[in-house]
Amino acid sequence: MSPPRVFVTRKLPGDALERLRARTRMEVWEGELPPPREALLSRSREAEGLLTLLTDRVDAALLEAAPSLRALSNMAAGVDNIDLSACTARGIPVGHTPFVLTETTADFAFALLLAAARRIVEADAFARSGRWRTWQPALLLGRDVHGATLGIAGMGAIGRAVARRAAGFGMRLLYSSRSPHPEEEAALGAMAVDKRTLLRESDFLSLHLPLTAETRHYLGAAEMAQMKPTAVLINTSRGAVVDQPALVEALRRGRPAFAALDVTDPEPPSADEPLLRLPNLLLAPHLGSASYATRARMASLAVDNLLAALEGRPLPHCANPQAAR
Ligand code: GLV
Repeated sequence: MSPPRVFVTRKLPGDALERLRARTRMEVWEGELPPPREALLSRSREAEGLLTLLTDRVDAALLEAAPSLRALSNMAAGVDNIDLSACTARGIPVGHTPFVLTETTADFAFALLLAAARRIVEADAFARSGRWRTWQPALLLGRDVHGATLGIAGMGAIGRAVARRAAGFGMRLLYSSRSPHPEEEAALGAMAVDKRTLLRESDFLSLHLPLTAETRHYLGAAEMAQMKPTAVLINTSRGAVVDQPALVEALRRGRPAFAALDVTDPEPPSADEPLLRLPNLLLAPHLGSASYATRARMASLAVDNLLAALEGRPLPHCANPQAAR
C-alpha cells in the first residue's frame, strides 16, 4: 500500500513535519498566507489527511470536495474553524492541540493584563518620543494589579493557569464556569459567581471560553453596560466571544475603560475597523501560544494526531471521539 496523501496548509515551526514526510506523501502549502479557498479545496481533493490551522475553514463543502479524507488534525486548541458534526457524521476524527499551550497562553493573557494596567505600550511610545523631560508625579498613572479583582470567564485549563498567576500577584479571584473548581477555591481563594456578579465586580475580566454557538457574543452591549467604568477587558480566546461593534461603542463610552485583545472578529480586522482607532485599546495579532517551544510542541502534537488517525490508532487529543468507527 502506498503511503497516504496528506496536505499541510502551512509550513510549521520545529521539525515535526519531517516525521510526517517520512510516513506519508506530504504536500505543504508554502505561502506565508493561508491557501485561498479554491486552493484548499483542490489540494484536499485527493488527500486522506489534512493538517490545518485556525485560519482554514473546514466545512461540509470542503468535506464533500474531499472524498478520500479520513483524518483531520488542527494545530490549535480551538476547533471553531471546523464543522465538527459534519466530520463526525463522516467518521473523520479531528485532532487538536490542547494543554501543550496552557501555560504559554496564560503567560500572554497575564502580560496583556499587566501591560494594560501599567500602560506599558503608551509608556514605551512616550519614552521614545522626546516628550520625556523629567520625572513627573502624575505621569502615565495606571492601575494596581495587586488587590484588584480578576474575573475569569471559563475555568478550563487556561483559565485556571491565569488564576494561579493572579493569586501570585495578590489579586482577588472570581470565576464563572459550567462546573465548580474546588481545588482553585481551596488553593487560590477563587470564588464561583454568576455572570452578573462577575461583570459587576471585576476590575479585570479575562475571557477563556471556547467559541461555540452558546458563547458567541458572551459579552454584548448589555453585559458591557454592567461592567465597572474602570474595568479592563482581556480577551485571548476568540474574537467572536465578544460582540465587536458593541465593544467599539462601549470603549467609546469608556465602559469598560480599556480592552487588551489578542483576538478579533474577523482576523485580521479590516483596515477600516473602528476598533483600530480607539486609544483605550491594546491589540496583539493572536499570539497567545506564540513561544518557540510551545509552537514546536503544537506542531508535534498535530503530527502525532494526524498519524494516529491515519493509522487507525486512538488520537492523543481528539475533539470528536464519537467519530471513531
Ligand atoms: C489558538 O488560539 C488555539 O486555539 O490554539
